[in-house]
Amino acid sequence: MNTSLSNISIEKAKVSKIDQVDFDNLAFGSVYTDHMLVCDYKNGSWDAPKIVPYQPITLDPSSKIFHYGQSIFEGMKAYKDSNDEAWMFRPLDNLKRLNISANRMCIPELPEEYFIDGLKALLQLEKDWIPKTAGSSLYIRPFIFASGNGFHASPADEYKFIIACAPSGAYFSGKVSVLIEETYSRSANGGVGYAKTGGNYAGQFYPTQLAVEKGYNQVIWTDDNTHEYIEEAGAMNIFIRINDTLITGPTSDRILDGITRKSLIQIAEDEGLEVAVRKITVTEVIKAAENGSLKEMFGAGTAAVISPIASFGYKGTDYDLPTMEDSYAVKLKKLITDIQYNRGEDKYGWRFKV
Ligand code: PLP
Ligand code: COI
Repeated sequence: MNTSLSNISIEKAKVSKIDQVDFDNLAFGSVYTDHMLVCDYKNGSWDAPKIVPYQPITLDPSSKIFHYGQSIFEGMKAYKDSNDEAWMFRPLDNLKRLNISANRMCIPELPEEYFIDGLKALLQLEKDWIPKTAGSSLYIRPFIFASGNGFHASPADEYKFIIACAPSGAYFSGKVSVLIEETYSRSANGGVGYAKTGGNYAGQFYPTQLAVEKGYNQVIWTDDNTHEYIEEAGAMNIFIRINDTLITGPTSDRILDGITRKSLIQIAEDEGLEVAVRKITVTEVIKAAENGSLKEMFGAGTAAVISPIASFGYKGTDYDLPTMEDSYAVKLKKLITDIQYNRGEDKYGWRFKV
């Protein structure tokens, strides 16, 4: 079934909340725009999307989302340039990943037009909500969950697709320190680590809370089998620079295939940096920290952009990262955000006009 902007109905909010927002002091994802897009799946197909005022949703207590966690989401951003034009970054890649997550979680796939036309219609309406303050953007959260009822442990027959938006500042404030995990696991072979599903995040909260109590911001996950290989962080993929080589682990069914990650690999290679996509052990990182060849570590993701890691902990010892004059994190952050905010050339065709 095809949909186009013409059949997305729009019910406008009576009063806008925009004047209540302090755009100079935005936290991450904590105030929401005036509208949201809603689309229901029932009787085997997706209904036409609707844009309605942002509001609570009513669900039956037996909705399967509450019991079996059938839910998936994406994280995207809209950026505003100096001419007030709005842009997205590789949105079709988010749709592709949403549908990969959908398949793994037995959720019906979403057709491309619903996603892209829905995003465009919503963002055109919410254009004034896209911040212009440096380092800020409109964080976009498309998600699908099981609204269908039943205590039977099987996939629901009804789903809701919603897109909500939040003008947002930085995901991390201040220096980021991470703990390399030795006990808990985020994902396992054959599991759902590669899917962007709610339970992957809920499962991280407890180990992350233990790390926060010890003074760290995030956990760096290691493989569930040996805890010897660096995998990813709670909300970002990880890059490690040893001497002048930028290393990131290969993706697998345990790791989220980050859009920022693959974009940075491409940009870094095109900049002539030496990039290695290969497994990296904790032992190698500790050795590099001890002999001075560990130059940088940073996380990469839509929310986190590029977040340099200032220090990491492992087996009770803390290791500080040096401050580099020719920082790859700084260089790559400039290059990717220049594309995202339409400040520079986009030779890849990643920028997408709203
Ligand atoms: N890894 C995890 C677990 C994430 O939640 C995210 C955020 O989406 C990423 C990596 C980075 O992915 P992306 O660059 O597509 O935002
Ligand atoms: C994103 O980077 O968009 C994410 O989805 C991470 C999220 C858990 C904040």
